Amino acid sequence: MQEVLVRQEKQGDAEAIAVVNRSAFGGDEEAQLVAALRGSESFIPELSLVAVVGERIAGHILLFRARLERPAGQIMDILALAPMAVVPSQSHRGIGSTLIQEATTRARDLGYPAIVVIGHPDYYGRFDFTEAATWGINCALPVPAKSVTARELTPGALAGGGQLRYPAEFSRLFIQGLSWRAGLQASPD
Ligand SMILES: CC(C)(COP(=O)(O)OP(=O)(O)OC[C@H]1O[C@@H](n2cnc3c(N)ncnc32)[C@H](O)[C@@H]1OP(=O)(O)O)[C@@H](O)C(=O)NCCC(=O)NCCS
Repeated sequence: MQEVLVRQEKQGDAEAIAVVNRSAFGGDEEAQLVAALRGSESFIPELSLVAVVGERIAGHILLFRARLERPAGQIMDILALAPMAVVPSQSHRGIGSTLIQEATTRARDLGYPAIVVIGHPDYYGRFDFTEAATWGINCALPVPAKSVTARELTPGALAGGGQLRYPAEFSRLFIQGLSWRAGLQASPD
């Protein structure tokens, strides 16, 4: 197997990242999401990572800033993961797993307390994401509760729960119909 290098997105990568997202998801919405978040205050350059195989970008993961409004009113900055994509020709080789592990390590090193993700719980469960509702975290977006999962990077960070607030760029595109949202709705609760 060719070596997989994970590095931060750099200038000039945007189109290749869009191609990866289009080919993995079979539509343009996730590429639009990445572009919208890249231009937003939620973007964290250090947490937009690409997987390079040979000379080519074969995978991408983005963690961006979201907020947890605590029951007592405080706001905690946390991270949200979306989207994550590996080109079909390179899938099932561990690239997705490598991207999540690397993103998680870098997020912890930057001091972020937790990551949330809306996605298939079976997949993210492999990486210690568990149902966010078990901490008392609510998400206002129209998705089954079990598809909203979270992982603490600082032990105890999510205790007490709260209301999860995604940035407007994410909520707008998500409600318009990102393809993985459609997949989640089709799956049984
Ligand atoms: C999900 C994705 C990023 C995984 O990348 P990958 O490099 O193939 O991941 P890994 O090789 O580390 O792991 C593959 C495993 O993930 C599992 N998996 C992939 N998609 C899954 C899903 N939607 N639900 C549950 N498990 C899933 C598979 O069972 C696979 O296991 P196998 O290789 O034993 O069959 C890639 O398949 C992809 O880009 N899919 C389309 C886009 C997408 O759904 N992204 C996630 C939502 S944002």
